[in-house]
Amino acid sequence: MMVPDEPVQNTIEAICAKGPSAADLYHALPGDGRKKVLGMLDTKQVRSLTALIKAAKKKRFAAANKRFLEIASGPILRSTPVYLIDETLIEENMRILQYVKDRTGCKILHALKAYASFATFSTMNRYLDGTCASGLNEARLGSEEFKKEVHTFGAAYRKEEIDRILAYSDSIIFNSFYQLQAYGKKARGKGVEIGLRVNPGHAEVETEMYNPCAPCSRLGIPHDGFRDEFLRHRDMVDGLHFHAMCEQNSDVLERILTSFEKLYGPYLEGLKWVNFGGGHHVTRDDYDIERLVRLIDNFKKRYGVQVYLEPGEASVLNAGVLISSVLDIVKNEMEIAIIDASAEAHMPDVLIMPYRPNIMKSGKPNEKPYTFRIAGPSCLAGDVAGNYSFDQPLRRGDRLVFTDMALYSIVKNTTFNGITLPDIAVVKGAGTVETVKRFGYKYYKDRQS
Ligand SMILES: Cc1ncc(COP(=O)(O)O)c(C=O)c1O
Repeated sequence: MMVPDEPVQNTIEAICAKGPSAADLYHALPGDGRKKVLGMLDTKQVRSLTALIKAAKKKRFAAANKRFLEIASGPILRSTPVYLIDETLIEENMRILQYVKDRTGCKILHALKAYASFATFSTMNRYLDGTCASGLNEARLGSEEFKKEVHTFGAAYRKEEIDRILAYSDSIIFNSFYQLQAYGKKARGKGVEIGLRVNPGHAEVETEMYNPCAPCSRLGIPHDGFRDEFLRHRDMVDGLHFHAMCEQNSDVLERILTSFEKLYGPYLEGLKWVNFGGGHHVTRDDYDIERLVRLIDNFKKRYGVQVYLEPGEASVLNAGVLISSVLDIVKNEMEIAIIDASAEAHMPDVLIMPYRPNIMKSGKPNEKPYTFRIAGPSCLAGDVAGNYSFDQPLRRGDRLVFTDMALYSIVKNTTFNGITLPDIAVVKGAGTVETVKRFGYKYYKDRQS
């Protein structure tokens, strides 16, 4: 279908005037219309569009934060704990990712390991190219529910699962030449593209637990010895993959790419694609999109390959909260609120990373008049979110809203202590809330013997 020139023209005028509707007009255009707009803008105007798109997104998130608080304190939510995901915010994140695709021609996959609540996939798959999976179950979910490309990487595959993994995958990435030899021919026979995950030789992740390039890491084929094996198997390989980032900006990617190109640049000729992995915090307010665009453009010019990104966090960053109620307040040297959500069971990264999750309308200890320790209901002594202060003393029944809880929470939670898992609810465009999942005794029992 031909794109009428008028919407394109209106969008360009709004961008040049730095009008508040410029971002919405741009996003409302079909793909070829957006392409036309980008083709007609000069470098300064494109930068201005980036800034307008980021500002529009920031404004929507600020408004939605108020909505989370209203829902938490209003009558709509009958029970807690609940992960409340705002689909409109996911869509805002999707628009930013789509903008990166528009600018660079890269493909972006959503990493299911970060977030797999398929109730929102029909929104996400309108913007992204598919999913990346860590094994059979994620590959199947991606194929059945996201319904676009599926790229699977596992540190090592099980023989009895490989046929089904291949059936659900468009691309399979091996972590060793042994695995390539064991399963490569089968993949080829089924028309599945083949990649190798390599260690790019540079990462800047401070927490070793989250650093795929830490000493003795098993993730990614090290450069030592790569050359000879690669040349022996060259005709089996369609692409290379690296993943070395965690919640980072594009300056880190630039340094990783410098190292990657130095080590693996000589082997890229004739490959179809290079996957830059995840950890790109593209939808964070301070993320440098222009630098990312420049890096991808230059890489494509040098090597002529399709570039893939596979962020997980960026898809749902700040798009969901965990709402919990105060069950009791006890005192032992300080006031301690026991809530119906557990750091251990429902927000495990709080204890693993560890980090102090943000609670809306709270401050650091003693910053506001009333300081409380916020702790979970389990037997684990360390099931504590942290110490927080509030304008009013907490009372039993009060609701607390933990921010940024869509990512790496629902996918990682457990029923430790037999604690019931939080409901999952989705805020739709009009502000309606739909509870899409409730867990009970059956779910707990099914996971035991
Ligand atoms: C191979 C791979 N791809 C993608 C991701 C997604 O990363 P993030 O959610 O930090 O963007 C991860 C995260 O661990 C990963 O290991």
